[in-house]
Amino acid sequence: MNLTQGNKIVLIGAGAVGSSYAYAVVNQGISDELVIVDANEKKATGDVLDLQDGIVYAPSSMKIRFGDFDECAEAAIVVICAGVAQKSGETRIDLVHRNIAVFEEIVSKIMDTGFNGIIIVATNPVDILAYATWKFSKLPKERILSSGTILDSARLRNILGREFQTAPTSIHAYIIGEHGDTQLPYWSAATLYGQKIALKLSDERKKAIGIEVRDAAYKIIDSKGATFYGIAMGLARITKAILRNEQVVLPVGALQSGENGHEDVFTGVPCLINRQGVEKVFTLDLDADEREKFDASVKALKDIQASIWS
Ligand code: LAC
Repeated sequence: MNLTQGNKIVLIGAGAVGSSYAYAVVNQGISDELVIVDANEKKATGDVLDLQDGIVYAPSSMKIRFGDFDECAEAAIVVICAGVAQKSGETRIDLVHRNIAVFEEIVSKIMDTGFNGIIIVATNPVDILAYATWKFSKLPKERILSSGTILDSARLRNILGREFQTAPTSIHAYIIGEHGDTQLPYWSAATLYGQKIALKLSDERKKAIGIEVRDAAYKIIDSKGATFYGIAMGLARITKAILRNEQVVLPVGALQSGENGHEDVFTGVPCLINRQGVEKVFTLDLDADEREKFDASVKALKDIQASIWS
């Protein structure tokens, strides 16, 4: 069956990340229709009313409403933000068993509507839950993606922007691997006006930056209890890339099918994103150190998958 066209977005989960994503989508005028689904109808309806109040100042007048899963039938994109979020002292992986059960129910409800669009997974641990969504939904692999390392890569670019007094938009750099503690900077491909950034930084500085990116979420969670604005903007970026058929390279979580030496696992790598979803998973030119760390990151994810689906 052909991919559902149009630009209707259904958001599942109106928690901090979900409602921040809704706010980003409305403020950026990314689609014409946004439906918010949440077990807490009162809260979700409050979000809808609150967002509708701002429409007159938004780039476009978007239809926003509360709904239930049957709205997925005509959705171009479903974004899943539902589930439990990590608390101070928890890793993203600590959430896996609680959120797998939530996802099995959610994905079943989505697919029962005849959904034939693209699913973006935002709930942690995103790599494992994107894999679960792919297995539960049986959708073609290009139609399932997660936020992957899009936020980690933004954090890296921000730090490097400060390091070189340059706008982060002029820094081309990626975090790859798990959206979690085993992630790694793809230093050998990081450039600023075409110059290799790795040659401008000491090994100690590169290590320190990698740790600062990896631990950024913990610092925010410790100070405000959760992260939601950065991830919401990353999700909005992915959504826009799909709906506008941008053919843009973004570090999303995508199913690996051997492009980087691994299969049957979702993890963050630069991918070509367009109206079909993940058009291409790029093969990376990793140096020996990056290859070792990337393989270790994938192994950590596959060990968790094996413990769930053994
Ligand atoms: C973070 C959450 C989205 O990295 O995992 O802020």
